[in-house]
Amino acid sequence: MTTQEFLGKQNFKIHTKTVSESCPSNIALIKYWGKYENQIPANPSISYTLNHCKTNTSMEFLADENFAVQTFLAGHEEVKFAEKIEKYFKNIEQYIPWILKGKYIIRTENTFPHSSGIASSASGFGAIAKCLMKLDEEFSGNTSEEESLRKASFLARLGSGSACRSLYNGLVVWGASDEVEGSSDLFAVKYPDSKIHEVFKNFNDWVLLIHEGQKSVSSTVGHGLMNTNPYAERRFQEARENFVPMKQILKGGHMEHFIKLVEHEALTLHAMMMMSDPAFILMKTGTMEVINKIWEFRKQTGLPLFFTLDAGANVHVLFPKDASEEKIKIFIETELLQHTQNNGVVKDVMQF
Ligand code: DP6
Repeated sequence: MTTQEFLGKQNFKIHTKTVSESCPSNIALIKYWGKYENQIPANPSISYTLNHCKTNTSMEFLADENFAVQTFLAGHEEVKFAEKIEKYFKNIEQYIPWILKGKYIIRTENTFPHSSGIASSASGFGAIAKCLMKLDEEFSGNTSEEESLRKASFLARLGSGSACRSLYNGLVVWGASDEVEGSSDLFAVKYPDSKIHEVFKNFNDWVLLIHEGQKSVSSTVGHGLMNTNPYAERRFQEARENFVPMKQILKGGHMEHFIKLVEHEALTLHAMMMMSDPAFILMKTGTMEVINKIWEFRKQTGLPLFFTLDAGANVHVLFPKDASEEKIKIFIETELLQHTQNNGVVKDVMQF
């Protein structure tokens, strides 16, 4: 599939209309870190889509007005975000030809705390892309649900790479991999449920909010630093190769290997940051404390508690929804929460 196939229909009929959509966040197990022009990922990635961390967006399109974008986040006007969306809309005009023919008032709200450091760009761009596809159907005619979702994923990717994975639930792959049929650099695809062992279909993800507030280096800048990182090519190769064991692990239900691979991916992501020029570290003392305590707990109990990280200090604490979960929850509450900033935790699940 090529970008040509996503070009928008030229015969459309616009009118004033408001649409609303909701989109969840996601957390990568094999990480996307490094990209080429036009949001092409340097390696394939796979993520879990969350259930509770979502962005709800309403988009009011005023057909008779000049192109402009006004955005409100939780009721407060956000001028910087509006500028970003304006630029994004100009960039995707060839795929949505009517997009610059009106004014937008976009109201968005996250179900997770704004200052939590949980990436809102994935759920945010996912929800915006879904709204655009809803308007597109209204103005240009029907598309099948499958095509519409795929195009929404394609458009979301052009806003923020990881956003394209948020359009589907369960496990989702973005980036061409020989291991995943139909996978593409242009949009995400759902990893087939039939190839996932039951133990991976029902998981807890508790996000420990170690450090609330702005990150010192944005993901976009971090991706850019991979261009000059001497370890980048090896890392991209490793991520590609990691799809081979990941596929077997997911099918076979091999929890121990899953834990090892997922933690390795998280630590490699942060190791890449430390080996960038200039180097940067997004983990905080609390991040390290939590990781060490998780390892010690696993050593002592053998229970399947493990972690992953995104580009920030927060720790995603993962554990299956099974007989061991009560014991693990008590451990998190008594031993890990003390390392968060304000006892901050977002308790999410991945269920499908
Ligand atoms: C570490 O998707 O936020 O979370 O494409 O520049 O918007 P842009 O970056 P973004 O990067 C996410 C990086 C990551 C890993 C991942 O989600 O795969």
